[in-house]
Amino acid sequence: MTALTKLTDTYALNNGTKIPIVGFGTWQTPDGQVAYDSVLAALKAGYRHIDTAAAYGNEESVGKAIADSGVAREDLFVTTKLWNADHGYEATKKALATSLTKLGLDYVDLYLIHWPNPAPMRDHWEQLNAESWRAMEEAYADRKARAIGVSNFRAKHLDALLKTAKVVPAVNQIFLNPSDTQDEVVAYNRAHDILSEAYSPLGTGKIFGIPELKQLADRYHKTVAQVVLRWSLQHGFLPLPKSVHADRIEQNTDLFDFELSTADMQTIDGLHGVAGLAKDPDQTDF
Ligand code: A2P
Repeated sequence: MTALTKLTDTYALNNGTKIPIVGFGTWQTPDGQVAYDSVLAALKAGYRHIDTAAAYGNEESVGKAIADSGVAREDLFVTTKLWNADHGYEATKKALATSLTKLGLDYVDLYLIHWPNPAPMRDHWEQLNAESWRAMEEAYADRKARAIGVSNFRAKHLDALLKTAKVVPAVNQIFLNPSDTQDEVVAYNRAHDILSEAYSPLGTGKIFGIPELKQLADRYHKTVAQVVLRWSLQHGFLPLPKSVHADRIEQNTDLFDFELSTADMQTIDGLHGVAGLAKDPDQTDF
């Protein structure tokens, strides 16, 4: 078990790459000044792990904030993701090159397949994932990505990928919070030494009104966000909280001066469905 003492503590991925245990999320952060300011605020607050995606449309602003922050590249962990329209061998190579250009980086620390089964490719998703993965394995060998992984994959998608993969995904980034603990996917990840990253760790903001969480937060003299992020860490997940407000960005780093009891962890585990559920990746319309 990784020590949970500070924001820059790391998990070791299955290829030995170290990854800071909390990442700054940028999904739904508008491109331009808002993305720029919030990433800069995050880096100032001590985050060293930034999560974006081609589909978020904010890679350029994220990259600009990284460049202007003065933080050394080797001290940063940057993730981006392959969008659905770019599945396939050649398209994946091109998409990564485009993301790197937008980010202004020579390499990303982690490159993920964003969704396993895009709607327009539903009849040949296995083949396309295998082809994308081959391109990603080459990018990994060429050091354009220090680690490669997937997002929103369930067991059947991972089983399919592992039939031809030479590199086991290092990460599976999924919708993961007290409202949907995705036990089956998490168990699969764990069995294959794949780190479970948690997007929407605060249920995209829907967990704040839950009375049980408010009571717990009061008892620990912490905020609901801090309790829920701590819950994520104590499960060994890697939460990616998103905010565009400097005070919340900072608040979400203050997770290391308390520990949830086993009983309180179980209470939070039992909140299934209070703030939405993960999308079924085989049923998406994109
Ligand atoms: P905002 O970006 O306006 O600060 P998730 O990380 O699960 O996607 O949740 C993000 C949502 O939760 C956003 O709407 C964000 O709003 C809000 N949020 C993030 N941190 C906090 C916090 N500490 N307190 C209240 N709301 C927060």
